[in-house]
Amino acid sequence: MAAFGNPFTANVERKMTKQELIQAIRLNIAGELEAIYVYDAHIQATDDEFAKKVIADIRDEEKAHIGELMTLLRYLDPTEAEKFAEGEEEVREMMEELGIKESNPNTTVGSLKK
Ligand SMILES: [Fe+2]
Repeated sequence: MAAFGNPFTANVERKMTKQELIQAIRLNIAGELEAIYVYDAHIQATDDEFAKKVIADIRDEEKAHIGELMTLLRYLDPTEAEKFAEGEEEVREMMEELGIKESNPNTTVGSLKK
């Protein structure tokens, strides 16, 4: 969760190296996942339909942010992108073996199909 107690927590005194930027993007992705988890918990914890709708909209924006960050990560680290694609292919093969169809085969986390 957010740590706003120290206003200098997120400040850095110099520019990041590329490797540090890659690590920062991974941290950003983790933050987006945590936000989705928390928003979902709040949706499940209220019966107020309007609040559910607003929070769900915000939660879905966080999902889009993950897509943006994953695309940036693939750009910054193409070798990592290859690993993402390998993992996706492994799961697709398992799904195919079990006769499971992908719900949306055109959108993936590790690689965008052309
Ligand atoms: Fe976000």
